[in-house]
Amino acid sequence: MKHKIITIDGPAGSGKARIASYIAKKWKYYHLDSGILYRRLAYLILKNKIKLSDKKQIENFLAKTNTISPRNSIKLRTEKISKAASKIAIYKKIRNYINIQQKNIIQKELKNRGCVIDGRDIGSVVFKEANIKIFVIVNAKIRAKRRYKQLIDIGEKSIYAKILEEIKLRDNKDKKRKNSPMKVPYKAHIIDNSESFSNTIFQINKIIQKNS
Ligand code: CDP
Repeated sequence: MKHKIITIDGPAGSGKARIASYIAKKWKYYHLDSGILYRRLAYLILKNKIKLSDKKQIENFLAKTNTISPRNSIKLRTEKISKAASKIAIYKKIRNYINIQQKNIIQKELKNRGCVIDGRDIGSVVFKEANIKIFVIVNAKIRAKRRYKQLIDIGEKSIYAKILEEIKLRDNKDKKRKNSPMKVPYKAHIIDNSESFSNTIFQINKIIQKNS
């Protein structure tokens, strides 16, 4: 049997990665969090003292960089990196670079198992051919509350009102950018993740079983 691709897209802090990791665990799928690739690249650009607005230097940096690790790390979860990732995510060259990496990783994994990938443009652009597409929605206030708690948990000082503002700004940037804006992919199942996680899981299981 051909292995399946499941995509999970949605705005910042909507719980995409948690849903994807639940699916990966339950069905023994490989999980790729595409946001980590944008975050790590932003981290490396800042570490190399390159300005996030300096397209030319960023391109030179990409030309010298082979692959970006998709491994999560606490240093990638700060608000500084969240903001920097969404800043660089507007550049077409960066998106192309990351898309190639995602395709290489998934092509390799699909030989052995199904794959679940989460992000903003996964079902609409990167893996349009996916077997199941999910788009997660949660209102901005609930997302900001969850994000605030996550930041406190990793020891970052934060203010709820500021987090809410940052989330709204990032939503706007992700939705309005010219290259691969965040949108509900064609034929996607919309999941409301505002209630309990068990309620979300119930909806997810129903969709996967119906499409298996
Ligand atoms: O975890 P959170 O939902 O806050 O963000 P993330 O998924 O880690 O993504 C960080 C930033 O990377 C987003 O705000 C997007 O601007 C960008 N991104 C993207 O443009 N396309 C993707 N497929 C994934 C992330």
